Amino acid sequence: MNIDVFTLFPSWFDWYLEQRHVANVLALGHRLETVDLRASTPLRGGQVDDPPFGGGAGMVLRVDVVGAALAERWGADAVEGRGTRRVIALAPGGRALDDALATELAAEEDLALLCGRYEGFDERVHEHLATDVVSIGPYVLAGGELAAMVVCDSVLRKLPGALGHADSAHEESFSPALGGAPEYPHYTRPAEWRGHGVPSVLASGDHGKVREWRLEQSRRRGSGES
Ligand code: 6GU
Repeated sequence: MNIDVFTLFPSWFDWYLEQRHVANVLALGHRLETVDLRASTPLRGGQVDDPPFGGGAGMVLRVDVVGAALAERWGADAVEGRGTRRVIALAPGGRALDDALATELAAEEDLALLCGRYEGFDERVHEHLATDVVSIGPYVLAGGELAAMVVCDSVLRKLPGALGHADSAHEESFSPALGGAPEYPHYTRPAEWRGHGVPSVLASGDHGKVREWRLEQSRRRGSGES
C-alpha cells in the first residue's frame, strides 16, 4: 500500500514514522510519504491560503494550491487523478472514522490524505479533488495532521503481517469477529494484586469456557452492561 500525506507540516510525521510498529509495516514494502503543500504552490512567497469570501475569521486553504500539489505528485491532472485512488480530505465535519472504514481503506493500493489547517479547505477541495471527507471525532483539532496519523495507524495495523500475531487484528474491538462490540478484558500476572484476583475461568484451562466467557464480556460491554 502507498500512502501520500499532503500537509503544511511534514516534519510532524517524522516522529510517527520512527515508531516501531510503523517502521515494521514499511519494512514489508508499504510506503508512507509526506508531500509539502507549500513546496508546489503556484503563488508567490509560499502562499497557500486566503481569507474566506463573505468574511469571517481565519484563513482557508486554497483549492489551486491543493490541486497543484496533487498534480505534481501524480504527474497527472488532479481532478482526473482522483479516479485512480481514494483521496481523503481530513476535516471535522466528515464521515466518522470507524473500524469498517479502516478495513475498507486497508484494501486500497494507493491512498492520498489531505491535511487541512486554519479554517480548513476551500469547499471545492472536498467537491472536486477528494473522494472522501473523513473526521476522527466530534471535536476540532488545529489541523488534519493528527487525524491523518490516526487514520494511518488504524489502517496500517490491518495490513497482513503488520502485527506480530496473525490473530490479534482479527478479534479486536469493533471487529466483525466480535459483532462490532468492544474487546473483552485481558489479565496477566500477577494473579493477585492488592487483593484483586482474575476471573477463575481464565485459569481453568477450558478453552471452550474461556471463549464463551470472552464473547459474553464483549457482548456486555457493547450493550452498555458492565
Ligand atoms: Cl479530520 N480535522 C480537524 N481539524 N479536526 C478534527 C478532525 C479532522 N477530526 C476530528 N476533529
